[in-house]
Amino acid sequence: MINLDNHYKPSNLSDKVALSFTKFLRFLADTFFKKRYGHRAVVLETVAAVPGMVAGMLIHLKSLRKMEDDKGWIKTLLDEAENERMHLMTFIHIAKPTFIERIIIMIAQFIFLVTYAIIYIISQRTAHRIVGYFEEEAVRSYTEYLYELETGKIKDQPAPSVAIKYWNLPLHATLKDVVKVIRDDEAGHRDVNHSFANVIDERKMKEKINSSEKQLKPNKNLGENN
Ligand SMILES: [Fe+2]
Ligand SMILES: [Fe+2]
Repeated sequence: MINLDNHYKPSNLSDKVALSFTKFLRFLADTFFKKRYGHRAVVLETVAAVPGMVAGMLIHLKSLRKMEDDKGWIKTLLDEAENERMHLMTFIHIAKPTFIERIIIMIAQFIFLVTYAIIYIISQRTAHRIVGYFEEEAVRSYTEYLYELETGKIKDQPAPSVAIKYWNLPLHATLKDVVKVIRDDEAGHRDVNHSFANVIDERKMKEKINSSEKQLKPNKNLGENN
């Protein structure tokens, strides 16, 4: 069972930058959308589907260049991008973006695509940590959305058929059920991206230990010869 409240405590400067960047974007989203959760979901899901595709493509290219196995990362990331796109395909039946929102979507896609690719090339671990924190916020937002639906502040409605098919939901499922399964998806992406950042840390740590062991060996030999 997925723990919805998981939070990764920032452990270094890169994590703190990732968390501050996320909180800043959250503030912008809260200010712009307020409680318009359907519109918020449409606009933000257009952005959420970008990192998996960018990261998947960059690892794919690296795997080709270095002739190295990807350890299954490419498929996981491309699946994440596809899953986020299905969130969008679902919410487009719930809220139609306004003209301003469509303009924001186009600008945001361009800016985010370029920015995320640059971050990924400079620091792969920070890029995954950022997505981990984005997904923590996504879980929070969908919990708030669910609360509004459960308390009747936002009217519930039948689930779009695209969602019933994709998540294999009962035919009488409603928007509440859809928000719950999407929130589970976001929690899954959160855990995967945080763990990818952790794996990169562990890999770097091992490399450091290996290289310091290599540096020590010649000294040892030198000592023996003397
Ligand atoms: Fe999503
Ligand atoms: Fe997400």
